[in-house]
Amino acid sequence: MDKMIIHGGAPLKGAVTVSGSKNATLPILMASLLTDEPCTIRNVPRLRDVNTALALLRGLGVQSEWTGDHALAIHAEHVISHEAPYELVKTMRASFFVLGPLLARVRRAKVSTPGGCAIGARPVNLHIIGIRALGARVQLRGGYVEAHADQLRGARIWLDAPSVGATENIMMAAVLADGKTTIENAAREPEVQDLAKFLVAMGANVRGAGTHVVEIEGVERLHGADHEMIPDRIEAGSLMVAAAITGGDVSIRNVPVDQLEAVIVKLRETGVSVIAADGGVRVTGGGALRPVELRTLPYPGFPTDLQAQMMALLTQANGTSVITETIFENRFMHALELMRMGADIVMKGPTAVVRGVPRLQGAPVMATDLRASMGLILAGLSAENHTEIGRVYHLDRGYEALDAKLSSLGARIERLKDSAPA
Ligand code: EPU
Repeated sequence: MDKMIIHGGAPLKGAVTVSGSKNATLPILMASLLTDEPCTIRNVPRLRDVNTALALLRGLGVQSEWTGDHALAIHAEHVISHEAPYELVKTMRASFFVLGPLLARVRRAKVSTPGGCAIGARPVNLHIIGIRALGARVQLRGGYVEAHADQLRGARIWLDAPSVGATENIMMAAVLADGKTTIENAAREPEVQDLAKFLVAMGANVRGAGTHVVEIEGVERLHGADHEMIPDRIEAGSLMVAAAITGGDVSIRNVPVDQLEAVIVKLRETGVSVIAADGGVRVTGGGALRPVELRTLPYPGFPTDLQAQMMALLTQANGTSVITETIFENRFMHALELMRMGADIVMKGPTAVVRGVPRLQGAPVMATDLRASMGLILAGLSAENHTEIGRVYHLDRGYEALDAKLSSLGARIERLKDSAPA
C-alpha cells in the first residue's frame, strides 16, 4: 500500500499550474459514446480515474489514444457492449455516467449500481427516475440497473436534489431523445456547464446549463467535436490552502477564479491574501489565521470537495470555527485523523466545531477518500515533524502529479511505493 511521508514546516513558494478538471472530464469521456465520429479532448488530466473511464469505454468498444501529453483522441465508432461491470463501477462511481449515453446510443444499458462509498450513501435513485421519465424501462437485477428503450422521449423532470451526476446522466440521455426535456432543480456546477458545452459542440441543443433549469431539444444524431477541458477548481482550491497553511507565497496559474468565489471569500475571511491576476491567483499566508463559519452547499456555494482541506487549515486558526457539511452525510472521516495529529475537533451530526491549536504534530494517519487524503497532506505540510499518510493511492485518482507540484514549491515529500490495489 502506498504511503506518503511529509516533513512539515516548509513554507511553499513559487509558481504552479492547475491541471484539467477531473469531474468535468469523466462525463465528457462517457459522452463520446453518443457519436460514431471521432472526438478530440484536450487538457485532460493524467489520473487514475481517467484511466478507469478509458478502460470502461474500451470494454464497450470505444477506441482511445493519447495524442499528446494531455490530448486524447476518442472514437466510439462501434459500440460492442452495453454493460458496465461491477469491477469497474465499484472502483469509480462516475462509471455510472455511461447509463445515459448508452441508452441514447444503443437503446440499452446494463450498469452495475455503485454500492457504498466512504463519504456517504450516494444513491442513484435520481438518475433512474430521470431515465424512467424519458421512457426507459428499468429493472434492478443482481446489483445491476438494466434499462432499455426503443425510443427515448423528452420529458419534464424535477430533481429532488440538484445532483451533479443525475443532471449529467439525464442530459446525455436526452440529447438524442425525441422532443424536449426540461430538467428542473438541475445542478449548476461548472462541470455540468462544461458537459453542455461539449454536447453543443457535438450538435446537441442544450440551453440553460449553469442555471436551475436545463432544456434539451433532442436531435437525430451527434457528430465529432474538439473540446478543451476546464481547469480543476478543486485542485486550484487545494493548492490555495497549501500556500495558506504553510504561510507560503504561491502563484497558481490556470485558476478558474470566478468558479471559486465562495472559497476565496472564506480564505480572505481567515486573513489569507488572495490576489487574482492574469488567469491565476497569488496566495500569501503567514499572518495569524482567523476562525470562520462555513457550510458546504451546491454550486455556487462552498464545495464539499474542499471541506477537508479547509478543515485542515482551520485547525490552525486563532479561535473556533464551525463547519457544516450539507451534501454528504459521512464526510468527516478526515477529522478523526486530524485529531490524531493534535487537532481539537468536536463533531455533532453534520457539524464540526474546530478549535484552533498552535501547531499540529506529525503522526501516522490513514486517508479514506480522495479529498480526505488532500486534507491530511495539507495538515502534514504544516505539522511539526513528519506525517505518514497511508492509503494515499486515493490521491492519484484525482490530483495530477501532486507530489511533483508540491515538491517544486519546496514541500518535503517522499512516496513509499507499494503495490496499490486495482
Ligand atoms: N443524491 C441522491 N440521489 C441521487 C444522486 C444524488 O440522493 O440519485 C444525493 C447524494 O447522496 C448527495 C447529493 O445528492 O447527498 C449530491 O450528490 P451528487 O449527485 O451531486 O454527487 P455526484 O454526482 O455523485 C459529484 C462529484 C463529487 C462531488 C459531488 C458534489 C463527480 C464524478 N463527482 O458527485 O466529487 O463531491 O458531485 O459536488 O463529478 C470528488 O471528486 O472527490 C467527488 C466526490
